[in-house]
Amino acid sequence: MRQFILLSFFVAVTSAASNLVCYYDSSSYTREGLGKLLNPDLEIALQFCSHLVYGYMGISAENFQAHSLNENLDVYKHQFSEVTSFKRKYPHLKVLLSIGGDHDIDLEHPNKYIELLEAEKVRQTAFIHSAYALVKNYGFDGLDLAYQLPKNKPRKVHGEIGSVWKSFKKLFTGDFVVDPNAALHKEQFTALVRDVKDSLRADGFLLSLTVLPNVNSTWHFDIPALNGLVDFVNLAAFDFVTPARNPEEADYSAPLYEPTGQNRLSHYNADYQVQYWLQQGFPASKLNLGVATYGNAWKLSPESGLEGVPIVANTEGNSAEGLQSQKAGLLSFPEICSKLSNPQNQYLKGNDSPLKRVTDPSKRFGNYAFRPVDGAVTEGIWISYDDADAASNKAAYVRAKNLGGVALFDLSYDDFRGLCTNDKYPILRSIKYRL
Ligand SMILES: *[C@@H]1O[C@H](CO)[C@@H](O)[C@H](O)[C@H]1NC(C)=O
Repeated sequence: MRQFILLSFFVAVTSAASNLVCYYDSSSYTREGLGKLLNPDLEIALQFCSHLVYGYMGISAENFQAHSLNENLDVYKHQFSEVTSFKRKYPHLKVLLSIGGDHDIDLEHPNKYIELLEAEKVRQTAFIHSAYALVKNYGFDGLDLAYQLPKNKPRKVHGEIGSVWKSFKKLFTGDFVVDPNAALHKEQFTALVRDVKDSLRADGFLLSLTVLPNVNSTWHFDIPALNGLVDFVNLAAFDFVTPARNPEEADYSAPLYEPTGQNRLSHYNADYQVQYWLQQGFPASKLNLGVATYGNAWKLSPESGLEGVPIVANTEGNSAEGLQSQKAGLLSFPEICSKLSNPQNQYLKGNDSPLKRVTDPSKRFGNYAFRPVDGAVTEGIWISYDDADAASNKAAYVRAKNLGGVALFDLSYDDFRGLCTNDKYPILRSIKYRL
């Protein structure tokens, strides 16, 4: 009897929030310098991850076949096989192959993912067969659709308050409508997912859906129907506000709850996105909350002021690219950590001087760090980011809501070298310990 009670207690404790879905962007293999993530460093993460999502595949605009975006690495240098063979050493690990993920940039065919939805069945079959073949041939456990759908238009918070005429005009010029055929595309997406699922069934392959940042689930997902088709959904509930989308205003990129007191959009926070899926009847146990391991970094102007309190006005888009991330407006967690005040940079001047860190005792919005413009030499910067504590708060939220787990985007931007506190993968670890 006692044993029985203990056993069921154990089951109850371990069943909720057991997923830690780790995204692995294989393009990190080809970065230069400290941002380069090679397999021995990748392997250290695998003891913590329940799933590894290998990104990203693209699709051809001509025949819709799914293919690697870096065949040289993935196929000829055997990175697909190297990664899937980690399963022998980590038998609990499921490795999925991901398509899309905002990495499949095709300037000549910006709408090819919509075209695939609208395509005749035979053309969709080419996509489905090719995706299946990649999963099957390289030993993956399933497929992840990080499907590239039209994104919400950004809106400037300041300057439009009370501008009734402007919003009236916008409504009629269709500025708010990012996809006039959203209702149809929603149906077509469900049908495509159904066919993909059918192709994976015989082998027992998994199918997951990644909801990319700013893809509006109301417009594009028939949630009750998708429930029967996917094993889980990863909500990339971050990048609500970014320097690329919102160059003139800096704000929390990935708040858990809506920050109060200003004219913000109420759906730009993680809790809203989670609640939306739950309200549509999606099971909590199949929903994973996405957490980013990078921060969004804006360039400040002299007019942005000295305070740093968001919403910060008069920003100038992306900050300069980081040495490791090599991407303007984006800094990896170890890069952010190295810019915060520490014994090495305390007395440095100009662009090497430390940033002021502002943590969030309310645990609702995340952290930011900044340095105002100072004279002609010192550039201003404002970064919104989740550190290990903030990520751990999100994991606590996941537990409290009995969600399936956390999805981490991605391993290569966590501090996999342990440069910040000597701990390798501090964000991944803090989530794991909290789940
Ligand atoms: C989708 O966008 C509309 C506004 O256009 C908003 O009201 C709604 O909350 C959004 N849905 C989600 C899930 O964010």
